[in-house]
Amino acid sequence: MKRELFFESGISKELLNQGYDALARELRGGDVGYYLLPESIENREVIHSFCKSYDLEKIKNVVVIGIGGSSLGTKAIDYMLSHTKNRNDKNLIFMENVDPNEIERNMRDVLFEESIFIMISKSGSTIETTSSVKYLMSKYQLSFEMEKFQQHFICITDKGSPLDAFASDFNLKTFYLPLNVGGRFSVFSAVGLLPLAILGYDIDAMLDGAYELKKSFFDRRENSLVEKAYHYAINDDIMPINVLFSYTSSFKYFNDWYVQLWGESLGKYNRDKERVGLTPIGIVGSVDQHSFLQLVIEGPINKSMTMIKLKDFDNDLTIPNISIPHLEKTDYINNNKFSTLINAQCDATMQSIMEQGIDVDRIEIDRLSEKSVGEMIFYYELLTSLTGHFLDVNTYDQPGVELGKVILKESFEKEIA
Ligand code: PA5
Repeated sequence: MKRELFFESGISKELLNQGYDALARELRGGDVGYYLLPESIENREVIHSFCKSYDLEKIKNVVVIGIGGSSLGTKAIDYMLSHTKNRNDKNLIFMENVDPNEIERNMRDVLFEESIFIMISKSGSTIETTSSVKYLMSKYQLSFEMEKFQQHFICITDKGSPLDAFASDFNLKTFYLPLNVGGRFSVFSAVGLLPLAILGYDIDAMLDGAYELKKSFFDRRENSLVEKAYHYAINDDIMPINVLFSYTSSFKYFNDWYVQLWGESLGKYNRDKERVGLTPIGIVGSVDQHSFLQLVIEGPINKSMTMIKLKDFDNDLTIPNISIPHLEKTDYINNNKFSTLINAQCDATMQSIMEQGIDVDRIEIDRLSEKSVGEMIFYYELLTSLTGHFLDVNTYDQPGVELGKVILKESFEKEIA
C-alpha cells in the first residue's frame, strides 16, 4: 500500500510527535481496545475452533442481523474480496434496515435449516436488530426453547448485556466483543471475523495485515498518516468535507463503512463545546466522474480528496478490437484491459482535481487480498483516531445518536398510554 500526500501539511516536529504520543497513550491506557485486536491470539482461536466444530457444510446462507458497526465492516470486506479465491459460495445476507420491503425481499427464499443466523449487538438491545429477530421467530415459527433455534442462532455481544443474559438463558453459542472495543471499531473482533471466516476468508492474513500497519505506526514510521489527520483537523473550517474517491467498485461498501466511522467518531462537540466534524463522502470512479466530479471541479473549494487506486485487478478482461460504425472515435481504447482504462481515468481525474488547487492524497493498493484489506481498514481506523485527537473530540462515543432513540421510545409509549 503506497501512500502519497500531494499537499503541504505544515506540521511541526512537535505536533507530529504529539499525534504519535496521543495514540500511544490510548494504547497504554487500555480504554481503546481496537488497537489490540490484530495480534490477540484468543481473538483468532475462538473463531477457528468454532469453524472446526460446527457443521458448516450444510450451511448455504450466513445471515448477519445487526446494524452500523455490527454489520458495515463485514459487508465492506466481503465486497472487497468477493472475487478472490478463498471465498466459498455461501450467501451473505444482512438484516440491517427495518425497511419491510427489503426484509421480505432478502429473506424470501432463505431456508432455516440451510442458514446460520448471527445476531450482533454490542449493547444488546438495538431496536432494528431485535425487531428483525422477532420477524425471524415468527417467519420460521420458532420458539426460544427449540433445539433447532439454539443450533442455528449465534450471538455476538458484550459480556453482561441483555443479549448475553438472553443467550445464556436459552443456551445460545455466544461470542464476546472486548468491552473497550466500540461498535464501529469492532470489525476485527468476532463481529467481523466470525462471518468472514465462515465465508472462507483467511482471517489470520487479514489480522496480520492490520498488525503490520499497527506496528509501523507505533514504531513511528507513518508520518504521512499523522500529517493528513492534522491537516484535516486544523482546516476543518475551510475544508469541512472529506471525499474518498475509490477507483474500484469493490470499495462501494468500504465507502459506507468509512462514512460511518468518520461521521460517528468525529462529528460532535469538542472539549471546548464547539461543534466540529468533517463531512465524509464516499464516491466510486469512474461512475461518479459523471456526477459528483462536476461539483468538485467547479463548485466551492471546500473539500479534501483521497484517491484510491487499485493497481492490479487480477482480471485481464480486455476491450475487444471492434469498431462501431459512427463511433470510431472511441477506438483508441481497443485492445486495452478494462483495468488499464479505469486506472488511466483515476490518474486523469486526479490531475484535473489537483489543477484546481484542491488538497489531494493517493492510496495505491497493489492488489486486493486479505492482507491488504486488513491494512486498509486499520489505516482508516488510525486516521480516525488521529483526526479525533487533533479535533479534540472523544472519538469513541456517540451521544448525538441517543436523542433520536429516546424520542422514538417516547412516541411509542405515548401511543400505548
Ligand atoms: O459504532 C457504533 O457504536 C454504532 O454504529 C453501533 O455499532 C450501532 O448503533 C449498533 O449498535 P449495537 O451493536 O449496540 O446494536
